[in-house]
Amino acid sequence: MEKRFSIVNNDVEKYIQDTLAPLKMELKLIHDNSIKEGIPVAKLEALRVMENILILKKPFSILELGCAVGFTSIFFSQYLKEDGYIDTVENDSDMIDRARINIKMLALEDKINIIYAEALDYLKNINKKYDIIFIDAAKGQYEGYFDLCSNLINDGGVIIADNVLYRGMVAKGDKIPHRQNTLVERLRHFLNKITKDERFSTSILSVGDGLSISVKK
Ligand SMILES: C[S@@+](CC[C@H](N)C(=O)[O-])C[C@H]1O[C@@H](n2cnc3c(N)ncnc32)[C@H](O)[C@@H]1O
Repeated sequence: MEKRFSIVNNDVEKYIQDTLAPLKMELKLIHDNSIKEGIPVAKLEALRVMENILILKKPFSILELGCAVGFTSIFFSQYLKEDGYIDTVENDSDMIDRARINIKMLALEDKINIIYAEALDYLKNINKKYDIIFIDAAKGQYEGYFDLCSNLINDGGVIIADNVLYRGMVAKGDKIPHRQNTLVERLRHFLNKITKDERFSTSILSVGDGLSISVKK
């Protein structure tokens, strides 16, 4: 089992991770190297949920906020419609370099566009719409991302956000370590807001570090 914080019972998480189809070799390598280096990448059980959404949705266009080493973009690219593409935004130049190497190694440069930018700046300055938006950048800014993304998602499109239960702390009443207080409050506010947003149908899954899935009606 991955040695990372888990928000559900460890036995349940291990069972699910051991039972799900493993990653293809090239993705597993990127995943395992990232974990070894302490670079956060999506957990297998969260990936398998997102995979099914992509299979059902068959997206032409995907936006990712938070590219890191390109792991999720590479994974998502398997489920694009023909000629479809992914725009993935990252503000750390070291991550951008790593993502470029991984994407080039797998000859996916035509499908995955890496954008070096602050996620909020990117969202404020574009004029296009996406079928899927995956929010996985600064957790304290999810509300701002969602506000802007709500106008950038096609009808029937899906906005997915990762880490929304942040190590289980979002559900833990007032027993939050002081350092994480603001972040946890922001995530609670974010979840409260999106679950009440009538333009979307939203579910919250205790999978990985918590996923919210919001379908634009
Ligand atoms: C959790 S990692 C992304 C992991 C990736 N989606 C995956 O699962 O393979 C979050 C990434 O978001 C980037 N990030 C954080 N704040 C950002 C911001 N304000 N704008 C753009 N990228 C940001 C970080 O540098 C980091 O690489």
